Amino acid sequence: MNSLVFENRNDEIDYDRLGGLCFIGRYERRLPVSIVRMMENAYDWEHLPHVHESSFKGINLVEDGKWGWRAVAILPDSRSQHLELLVDRAQSYWATTVLSGDAKGFEIHTQAKQVTANEIDVVINFYLPKAFSKVLLGLNISKWFLPFKLYKKVAEKLGINNVSASDSPETSILNALHYQYSVLYDEDETLMSGRQEAIDRQKKNNNLESPTRLSIGQVGTVLKQLPKVVQFGKHRYVVNQWKGEWVIYAADCPHMLGPIEESDIDSQGRVTCPWHGYQFDILSGKSCSDGGADLKGAPTLSIVGDHLVAHTD
Ligand code: FES
Ligand SMILES: [Fe+2]
Repeated sequence: MNSLVFENRNDEIDYDRLGGLCFIGRYERRLPVSIVRMMENAYDWEHLPHVHESSFKGINLVEDGKWGWRAVAILPDSRSQHLELLVDRAQSYWATTVLSGDAKGFEIHTQAKQVTANEIDVVINFYLPKAFSKVLLGLNISKWFLPFKLYKKVAEKLGINNVSASDSPETSILNALHYQYSVLYDEDETLMSGRQEAIDRQKKNNNLESPTRLSIGQVGTVLKQLPKVVQFGKHRYVVNQWKGEWVIYAADCPHMLGPIEESDIDSQGRVTCPWHGYQFDILSGKSCSDGGADLKGAPTLSIVGDHLVAHTD
């Protein structure tokens, strides 16, 4: 891995450079989220391998700040790619540049615009360096996209029927990019909407009284509902079974409120948050990831008669 790739980079987007690049096309999308969630998502390098598994296998941050971030991304086929994302906050604009690998020089410029309080439009423009010849476009660049057959199948599903093997490299690449970005934004939409719901829910539940006891239900019934999410006072918890024992642990990730209830429990008694991969021990609630916060403390579970009861007394 060449660490010099990121040396002497400017932390601001150089808009004048766009004229020297070759514009290949754009992808546009309306999203049911606020501009705040969208900008948060742009800065969030950590979600890439967890939320966008088909595009990223891993990511190692090199540096980040208000200006954006630089990281080495690991692609699904294990090749690595130096990525830089620069943000122009005032303009709700960000530019991603690939600085190494087959796609070196590829730039993705994104403009977000608020439509209503909870709706935005994003316009994503794709650029290549002008120096790329058609041969390079065809032989080199298309390698990092889907093989033609697979691409044709997904394109048809999307209603793009005019796909042909004789498409120019630019058309093939643009079509493949449209597919890839529709998947990426589907995944981001789920993450951003889920986070907004979690924030709203937390605000609403902040006024709830904290009980000392809560009946979860009749044991046999609860067994059929696992994992079962319950509201106990201000917080949500997951009631589950692990190795034949009842367990209860917080459902909201302390990092960014990710849905812990979506995780299976692994053989070591750990759950993994689906948004950024932080892991937690379900019995102690302790974080198993470097620097991560612990899960919120959980009540105790007891069987009273034939009912499962959560309690703090
Ligand atoms: S929300 Fe980020 S790891 Fe859970
Ligand atoms: Fe994303």
